[in-house]
Amino acid sequence: MLQVGINGYGTIGKRVADAVVSQPDMELAGVAKTRPNFEAERAVANGYPLFAAVPERVERFAAVGIDLAGEVDELVERSDVVVDATPSGIGAENKELYETYDTPALYQGGEDADLVKTSFNARANFSEAVGADHVRVVSCNTTGLSRLVAPIEEAFGIEKVRATLVRRGGDPAQSGRGPINDVLPDPVSLPSHHGPDVKTIFPDLAIDTLGLKVPATLTHTHSVNVSLEREASAAEVRDLFENESRLFVIGEDLGIDGSGAIKEFALDAGRPRGDVWENCIWGESIAVEGSDLYLFQAIHQESDVVPENVDAVRAVTEIEDAETSIERTNEALGMGF
Ligand SMILES: NC(=O)c1ccc[n+]([C@@H]2O[C@H](COP(=O)([O-])OP(=O)(O)OC[C@H]3O[C@@H](n4cnc5c(N)ncnc54)[C@H](OP(=O)(O)O)[C@@H]3O)[C@@H](O)[C@H]2O)c1
Repeated sequence: MLQVGINGYGTIGKRVADAVVSQPDMELAGVAKTRPNFEAERAVANGYPLFAAVPERVERFAAVGIDLAGEVDELVERSDVVVDATPSGIGAENKELYETYDTPALYQGGEDADLVKTSFNARANFSEAVGADHVRVVSCNTTGLSRLVAPIEEAFGIEKVRATLVRRGGDPAQSGRGPINDVLPDPVSLPSHHGPDVKTIFPDLAIDTLGLKVPATLTHTHSVNVSLEREASAAEVRDLFENESRLFVIGEDLGIDGSGAIKEFALDAGRPRGDVWENCIWGESIAVEGSDLYLFQAIHQESDVVPENVDAVRAVTEIEDAETSIERTNEALGMGF
């Protein structure tokens, strides 16, 4: 059984921890946090070994009666792979720690692309991460775009992608983020940095992206236009998407009109935390005009990268190929509605 450690137990870290626990070939070596808050209390309640991410803060945990399994170095030493899910920029500071113990590490999309040689999306470039020591699982938005681009490129060829990313102002628990009552071009200079990030997965892709931030918390929404190299009908594109395990085409009859209904649907389906690991593409929005494909998709920013982290663990440890890993991850999580 692979021992997987999680350094940074917040929005992404706690979801990846639960996903690791559900995998038949992995065990959770433990999780590391800096503060003894409600997430620390829940980690211990779940039976997850909890490690102090900052040694000077060990006593804070003792003061509120939370038992620690040790300090973060011990977690790194006992792990076959560490998933670093700390806030943007901290992962880069932690790289030396992982190197000290020769433990392969996965970083998240908030880290700069040049921190590692390999940025990762399971559907698009699993093989490039096989045996790598340091891999960045790309951001929620880049994951959402990569899952679309890979099958379209294979089936029809892509001349150019143009995508407008309508981004949530913050996650539901991020009380300090906004905007509260505004729509912000973000970044205001065009094109946005998201396109270059997609090119870390598809170096030869022509892509321009624009970003906005809106007062929403549940999902990002992408308005996507792909100029195709070969002719395709909307029905062919829809068929293609329906055969992809991490793309969910929202049926017209479901009456799902936005992010709120998607979340409610996921909760009704019994998804943990109402998570939606798949891209959600509105079936009615898939349209082809000449050689231009158009669609809208919603991306659940808190969870779409979770199955990607699980697959990246298998890639760096070389225990499975892409197809087997994706299938195993999907089955253990309960992917698909
Ligand atoms: N949320 C999203 O929508 C999303 C989507 C895709 C990718 N990402 C990326 O995933 C990464 C993590 O984001 P997140 O949203 O999960 O952040 P988050 O909710 O703030 O969680 C990060 C956790 O790391 C802990 N932490 C802080 N400093 C630490 C340190 N030095 N060592 C260990 N743990 C530390 C914090 O908890 P304590 O201080 O209490 O320990 C915090 O709860 C970022 O790179 C982000 O860009 C985020």
